[in-house]
Amino acid sequence: MKISVIGAGYVGLTTAACLAHIGHEVRCTDSDRGKLAVLESGRMPFYEPGLDAIVSAASANGRLRFVGAHEALAHGEALFICVGTPPLANGDADLSAIESVAREIARHAQGYRLIVEKSTVPVQTGQRLRRHLDIYGRAGLEYDVVSNPEFLREGSAVEDFFHPDRIVVGAESGRARRLMEDIYRPVLDQSFACPVHAACPPGRAPAAFIVTDTNSAELIKHASNSFLAMKISYINMVSDLCEAAGADVDSVVQGIGGDRRIGASFLRPGIGFGGFCFPKDLQAFVRIAETFGCDFGLLKQVEAINLARVDRFVARLRDELWTLAGKKIAVWGLAFKPETDDVRFAPAIAIIRRLLAEGAEIHAFDPQAMEKAQRELPAIHLHADAYAAAERADAALLLTEWKEFQQLDWARVAAAMARPLIFDGRNALPAPDLAAHGIQCVGIGKAVSTAPGKAVSAAPSKAVSTAPGKAVSAAPSKAAPVQTAAGPAHPRAALAEAGR
Ligand SMILES: NC(=O)c1ccc[n+]([C@@H]2O[C@H](COP(=O)([O-])OP(=O)(O)OC[C@H]3O[C@@H](n4cnc5c(N)ncnc54)[C@H](O)[C@@H]3O)[C@@H](O)[C@H]2O)c1
Repeated sequence: MKISVIGAGYVGLTTAACLAHIGHEVRCTDSDRGKLAVLESGRMPFYEPGLDAIVSAASANGRLRFVGAHEALAHGEALFICVGTPPLANGDADLSAIESVAREIARHAQGYRLIVEKSTVPVQTGQRLRRHLDIYGRAGLEYDVVSNPEFLREGSAVEDFFHPDRIVVGAESGRARRLMEDIYRPVLDQSFACPVHAACPPGRAPAAFIVTDTNSAELIKHASNSFLAMKISYINMVSDLCEAAGADVDSVVQGIGGDRRIGASFLRPGIGFGGFCFPKDLQAFVRIAETFGCDFGLLKQVEAINLARVDRFVARLRDELWTLAGKKIAVWGLAFKPETDDVRFAPAIAIIRRLLAEGAEIHAFDPQAMEKAQRELPAIHLHADAYAAAERADAALLLTEWKEFQQLDWARVAAAMARPLIFDGRNALPAPDLAAHGIQCVGIGKAVSTAPGKAVSAAPSKAVSTAPGKAVSAAPSKAAPVQTAAGPAHPRAALAEAGR
């Protein structure tokens, strides 16, 4: 089928390249001419594992081309809208890019068009799109609007496209539903040459094709992300309780996650969630609910807990270092998660801003995100690897759990640092190995241990696992502010700070 994808970001470029890979004739456009020029020249505008090879193969065989808006609108029977929907200051989704695309479609499209909302939008946006096209559309424009929310995860976007759990389609007509089924047929049947796995399918059940009305499909996306965010905030509160009560959150997660009704995924305690989806989608969902007269207090609390993670982490570091001014802090990881260069709303960026504000000197390394992080934080020093960043540091912070950080040469790290102290913000480091090399490791939701394997309860505690021979501070910690119902004074302001 002839398909055009509007917006060549993480979602749009992945969608365009993967649709071309499964056999469609795809044209992809973006309002950012610089990004289009990068793509036309065969380069990638961002890092996403495996995507570059699919883009270049599809470009070489002509199934994927990067074109201007007019050519894209003329080409596609199906128009996939993949533009950004960032948060406004009040938490609402900013739909100006969606509106701008709707205007272009109304002005230029002719004949039949299947308009596919892939961007994450508030419920009833499809209805608004229809109204807009009815009012402004050219004579002879026939269309269906479908909602096809995207569930890909940055870092595994290609895999997620080819092997989704489900494909949700909110369609109001049989024609629209059939077209969407045709578009995704190769994925549903797994009848394509998989660029990810040597042998496919990778032992998973085939994707469910879930057809709903458009309002429900739009709501599914916000409800899914908010639920996952809720799991993360829940386990973060449990981890605070573990620290205070002398329990170990990893053991608790093992016990909770063993229940199939709950599952262990997204029960990872740490410095909180970030990225371009969870924080903004959570806020938008709360706002959407308010619009319809529902007070989603549960999700407000999820947001408040998440924002407090940054305060808590910085406070614990300050407590351990006494003061932060003039301290040299190594930061391992800047992206909001591993396997991406995306730093939008990354907790690492929010934490570094706080540390810089208190006068700390930041020496950072991230395998992919340094260029983007430097634009946000020009004052930080960037290094070629984790060891160089840790040179003469008073503490090192693991803020993104890239695999390579989990496999560092701990003897080398210990020798490089002024004080062998690591704050593991993701509970991803091998704490016993660190202790064996004389490194004090502060994890999340851990009981105090005086030596490897010997846990002592020290409530109210700091989760400090010390190396043999190191003193343990077990004084009541000011560093762990208790989460209140109200959360930080201005959660949205804090989030805006985290994201910019
Ligand atoms: N990033 C994710 O992991 C993810 C996952 C699922 C859903 N989503 C949703 O998908 C949407 C896109 O997210 P993203 O991460 O790809 O964003 P992005 O910022 O990476 O990409 C959006 C692109 O749209 C372009 N654009 C903006 N206005 C345009 C216009 N009028 N015409 C053409 N192009 C325009 C921008 O230049 C940009 O390149 C958002 O609604 C997001 O919530 C994102």
